[in-house]
Amino acid sequence: MNPADPDDGPIGLFDSGVGGLTVVAHLLQRLPEESVLYFGDTAHLPYGPRPLEEVRDYAIRIGRYLAAQGAKIVVMACNTSTSAAFDAVQEDLPVPVLGMVEYGVHAALAVARNGKVGVIATQGTVLSGAYERAFRAVREDLQVVQQACPEFVPLVESGATDSPEALAAIQQYIAPLSAQGIDTLVLGCTHYPYLAGTIQQVVGPNVVLVDPAEALVQALERLLDEKGLRRRSPDPPTHRFLVSGDPAAFVAAAHRLLHREILVEKVDIFDAEN
Ligand code: DGL
Repeated sequence: MNPADPDDGPIGLFDSGVGGLTVVAHLLQRLPEESVLYFGDTAHLPYGPRPLEEVRDYAIRIGRYLAAQGAKIVVMACNTSTSAAFDAVQEDLPVPVLGMVEYGVHAALAVARNGKVGVIATQGTVLSGAYERAFRAVREDLQVVQQACPEFVPLVESGATDSPEALAAIQQYIAPLSAQGIDTLVLGCTHYPYLAGTIQQVVGPNVVLVDPAEALVQALERLLDEKGLRRRSPDPPTHRFLVSGDPAAFVAAAHRLLHREILVEKVDIFDAEN
């Protein structure tokens, strides 16, 4: 890689843990020539129950770190930090920033039929009202039914996605959404696609599940073209995965969930200097 050419810099992505890897999976599939620099803030996992100001602070520090490491675009691969801090991070960073919520809304509106859309997300995302505002900005008449699912992230991080506990939690959270008659359900947390198979079974075949990652990666591709930022180096891309907490737990979860071997480094970016 030629560090003098900013186009050869990686796409920076971050999340609290392994959730953002669901976005990385879409990215690697659609843009296999791009390099990835991923940061999992596992020291502060889960973000969902934390105050939005705290999540905003983490998001700004991580975004600055990724940009300082040469990321040419930063993807907030986390709905909670997107909900808490998208505008703040976008204003703060010298590089383009993409967040999840906008793409969840676009993708849902493309398939919604009966005017009732469900959103499952963390407590932070639900409390922020970000999805509701984004939907209403485009379609005022839409009924948005939100459900916080605090048990999902710990289940995914511990690899218990096919457990009886996961099924029970999914049934509990989906029941009120089904009762409202939604026909579209946004997976409003990047950890949730790991549970998508069981969620689809529980919600039934008539409800369309929407993973914002697909639309986000399409937008990322357009942005690379618009800004002339596609990676040009003939060398193979390099992928780096960084965490703020225990690398072993992340490697195990990533391997289990992404089905590929990855090298994970622990870095401390939250000292007084940052
Ligand atoms: N995966 C993140 C999201 O999309 C955060 C989950 C969490 O740490 O609570 O919201």
